[in-house]
Amino acid sequence: MKEKLEKIKENAKESISKIQNLQELQDLKVKLLGKKSELSTILKGLGSLAAEERPKIGSFVNDVRNEIESNINEAEKRLKEKALSQKLEKEKIDITMPGTKIKRGSKHPINRVIEEIQDLFVSMGYDVVDGPELETDEFCFERLNLPDGHPARDMQDSFYITSEYLLRTQTSAVQARTMLGNTEKSPIRMICTGKTYRREDDATHSHQFNQVEGLVVDRKELNVSLADLKGTLEVFVKKMVGEKSELRFRPSYFPFTEPSYEVDVTCFKCGGKGCPLCKKTGWIELLGAGMVHPNVLKMNGYDPEKYAGFAFGTGIDRLAMFKYGITDMRYLYTNDVRFLSQFDRKDEE
Ligand code: PHE
Repeated sequence: MKEKLEKIKENAKESISKIQNLQELQDLKVKLLGKKSELSTILKGLGSLAAEERPKIGSFVNDVRNEIESNINEAEKRLKEKALSQKLEKEKIDITMPGTKIKRGSKHPINRVIEEIQDLFVSMGYDVVDGPELETDEFCFERLNLPDGHPARDMQDSFYITSEYLLRTQTSAVQARTMLGNTEKSPIRMICTGKTYRREDDATHSHQFNQVEGLVVDRKELNVSLADLKGTLEVFVKKMVGEKSELRFRPSYFPFTEPSYEVDVTCFKCGGKGCPLCKKTGWIELLGAGMVHPNVLKMNGYDPEKYAGFAFGTGIDRLAMFKYGITDMRYLYTNDVRFLSQFDRKDEE
């Protein structure tokens, strides 16, 4: 019997040492020490032994049982440690790995130009004002001396919402709003930037574009003159497209200014020599400008005998295109990230 128990002990020890995981160990424990194990069977059979044999064999069975249990405990400890170190190995974080770059948005080229214009004019004492994009015929045309029959009033050129309301075709509407709203007749020095709409769509025109409007109105004796307008535009254009630029004033026609001018700037690509951008003329048309028409002053609450003013307007999209060498205006509106990301930190260059 003793030999048999010794054998059970040895076999158990060997089986335990071969076990590779906790589940197998649990199964083996049941097999070795459970109700149906050899040991239990022997214990149950103790009663049939001779009385003097019983305690000896009994205590030997207990010794074997204790030995097996302690072997199992040891194995359990070993397997648990192994499982833990495997888990840690699997979940290890490589702290030397380079981080993932989080993409940052960049300011839209139009907004860059708008902010630059606003900063410049604020530094010259101008207010930045705003006006509605959904405008009335009255402010967009009537109060700006735009006679009936003017092409801008045509359904073909403007987006009319009703017979009275339209999407503004020019920020000049804000000129009328500013004058009419300034009941105390304090000096006006304002710029307004914003979206404008016309029914066109090709590489250099978009149905939606941005304009900047400038208006200065003050008492006549303070000499609000064409010279002031020229000086202002010179500062503006040089700041926007380059100090070396020269300006050329060409007589033109706008219903709300008299005299009116179209202002050209020397081509910033060829410096005036002539290239495809300036169509070999050396000049690029940039702004509309002039002295505020007496009728416009009158219609918006100012006595043209006592007050004078100048106004100017230009397309911000065109400025952005020139500044950044963009060839198709539609790029500015499709918001393709590949296009926009090229302007990341462009101003810091
Ligand atoms: N509003 C004119 C345009 O859209 C530009 C302009 C503004 C001309 C102010 C003169 C004075 O073309």
